[in-house]
Amino acid sequence: MFINRKFPNTRLRRLRSSSNILDLVSEKRLSSDDLIQPVFIKEDIDGTEEIESMPGILRHGKSSILKEVESIVRSGVKTIALFPVVNSSKKDSKGSEATNKNNLMCESVRLIKENFPEVIIIADVALDPYTDHGHDGIIKNNYVDNDLTLDILRSQSLVLAEAGADIIAPSDMMDGRIGFIREALENSDYKNTILLSYAAKYNSKFYGPFRDAVNSASNLGTSSKSSYQMSPYNSDEALHEVAMDINEGADIVMVKPGMPYLDIVSLIKNTFKIPTFAYQVSGEYSMLKLAIAKGWLDNQVMLESLISFKRAGADAILTYSAKEISMEINKK
Ligand code: PBG
Repeated sequence: MFINRKFPNTRLRRLRSSSNILDLVSEKRLSSDDLIQPVFIKEDIDGTEEIESMPGILRHGKSSILKEVESIVRSGVKTIALFPVVNSSKKDSKGSEATNKNNLMCESVRLIKENFPEVIIIADVALDPYTDHGHDGIIKNNYVDNDLTLDILRSQSLVLAEAGADIIAPSDMMDGRIGFIREALENSDYKNTILLSYAAKYNSKFYGPFRDAVNSASNLGTSSKSSYQMSPYNSDEALHEVAMDINEGADIVMVKPGMPYLDIVSLIKNTFKIPTFAYQVSGEYSMLKLAIAKGWLDNQVMLESLISFKRAGADAILTYSAKEISMEINKK
């Protein structure tokens, strides 16, 4: 297709000569509509707590949640993803607290919905914030048991849907969970509850700071999630995972982590043509933030990294920098 293009008939720099021309011919755009802000909520604290390994990100106690949501909304971001930091006294081997309809997540969803009914709430469904061993499922004979875990995920999803979560996001990579949860939602008349499947979630070391943030790192210790999360060597398998999840009733699929896995985002979007999200995870965020804080990188690298997600085909991006980047884009 490029055979007969010759200089000077073709000068590619013509279309780079001013910022207005650049905007006019821009192939991709990043807007507030594409950004999702994760929010950490914690019980029994007043106000906020800093997370040492995630510069600028806070754990929010009840008294501070609404203020945080208000500032997210003011930035132009319309969707949040909630993650709970659960009291260690409430953790057990089965993650029972996950199914309590008055747990921190459910109460927070209700509180936010009462005050900001238009904000879209994504509720994570996985047991790791609730288990005393830090795994995403129930352990039997030293193995994270798939089918025993499904029963709890189903109850966890129902209490979250009942509390008013718009989107249920299973993030644990158990087989069959999407079908199980979809059936339970249909049977309980939550027909419009959206299922966002973490369909291709890799066994990644980029989750380190998140595990500090939700205090699951010490529970998990040196134990690995390799028997359920995907191997970083595989990409065909990601297509297999996505095909399964679509057939089981997922509305949106997600790839995680983001930047080191943009080939997977592109592959999935081009193959299935369905809404495909990507998660710029804690480790990716913290690497950039730390280098920016040191003055080793310009702070525009955050925006640049998010543009790369759009180029790869992501429809929306979960990023800890959502609020900040949204304010920046809207100032322009
Ligand atoms: C687990 C879960 C993880 C993240 C979100 N949900 C990581 C894990 O497997 O421990 C990580 C997100 C991040 O690193 O930002 N259910």
